[in-house]
Amino acid sequence: MKTVRDPVPLQERVDDDLDELSKIVDDSQPGWTRTALSEQDTAGRHWALRRMRDAGLEAHIDAVGNVIGRWAGRDPAAGAIITGSHTDTVPGGGRFDGNVGLVGALEAVRALREADRRLDHDLVVIDFFGEEPNDFGLSCVGSRAITGDLTGEHLALTDDTGTRYADALAAAGIDPAGLDKARWDPSRVRAFLELHIEQGPVMEQQGTQIGLVSTITGTARFRALFHGRRDHSGTMPMHLRQDAGCAAAGTVLAVERIAGEQEHGRGTIGSVTFTPDAVNVVTERAEIFGELRSPERDWLQYARTALLEAAGTEAATRGVTLDFEWLPGKAPAAMSPTLLDICADVVGGLGYRHSRMYSGAEHDAAVMAAFCPTAMLFVPSHAGRSHCPEEWTDSADVLAGVHALTETITRVDTTPAC
Ligand code: GLV
Ligand code: MN
Ligand code: MN
Repeated sequence: MKTVRDPVPLQERVDDDLDELSKIVDDSQPGWTRTALSEQDTAGRHWALRRMRDAGLEAHIDAVGNVIGRWAGRDPAAGAIITGSHTDTVPGGGRFDGNVGLVGALEAVRALREADRRLDHDLVVIDFFGEEPNDFGLSCVGSRAITGDLTGEHLALTDDTGTRYADALAAAGIDPAGLDKARWDPSRVRAFLELHIEQGPVMEQQGTQIGLVSTITGTARFRALFHGRRDHSGTMPMHLRQDAGCAAAGTVLAVERIAGEQEHGRGTIGSVTFTPDAVNVVTERAEIFGELRSPERDWLQYARTALLEAAGTEAATRGVTLDFEWLPGKAPAAMSPTLLDICADVVGGLGYRHSRMYSGAEHDAAVMAAFCPTAMLFVPSHAGRSHCPEEWTDSADVLAGVHALTETITRVDTTPAC
């Protein structure tokens, strides 16, 4: 009689894949930089394509740049189990964010194939295109395209040089007119599972090995443009100025104050531009680009209103005009309670210390959750550092995550209702 072997993910292969991917970076920047649409991003996604094929998957790059590999199951009508993450990074980022989920998905496939554990469902690995927010204020581009959430409005977004996102995609060989082809039918999908690093300090503090994500934070991103008057910095009395820089600075601090009012509130201004950029000229034009986050929908709504009010007051008291724009954001996204229970059962059975938690970082899983049952597994991050070169997760912790992912895939394959 044929014996059923357990799939065994191998640490060496996972480490080697992470190492290889970490070499495809822009060396002119600190850390590990592979921003979407850069030549390193294209090279990284082609690396993913080759690794998928090496792992025995039927793989291609779709109309928006997602790399998709499929291992056909016994029942093509049963719907696919999807797993994966992203290989693009923030500028000066780390070598684990997103990469762990893609490399973990590849290793899950290899381990299952070696154990001769063909699934009933198709198993699909995806390296989602452009997960990190880009200069156009848009994130999770690949998962938005798959779920039908990439609109003409998104394509019309402009960066600070006035370039349209549609034109930036076309320049990188992605035809914006063909994006509808990337869309999937949700009835052909059974579940999405994403393995990722935590990117925060909670798991390390609790001593947990696997984090089970209950909710992914909501994000409200904005761009605010203050327009004042340029004047001589030494001669124009303070009460006669229309200083756009001071209005912007007051708004930066308002973001910090508002976000600090709630335990899970987060507020960040990641970019400030003053024009003219000169020490002896009162600023005429100031642009800030920032975000508010929280897993609590009502508080996020309150924070949006409070921020608009604060920015308006900062501008009005200085005779400065304000042009405020909300960029595409996301509502808080709950993960599937059924999948969460399955994950908890699998991870507990494997003997890993685990806990439920919310994610303060955005993920493709937040987009996928509106489309199909979705769950996320976290592994710990050293000192909670992420989006910086110091981002680190121990190899043994990554492997525990890959093990948990592999076993969860087999359980979802055989569980009647997800
Ligand atoms: C993605 O990493 C995000 O949380 O912005
Ligand atoms: Mn990230
Ligand atoms: Mn990520």
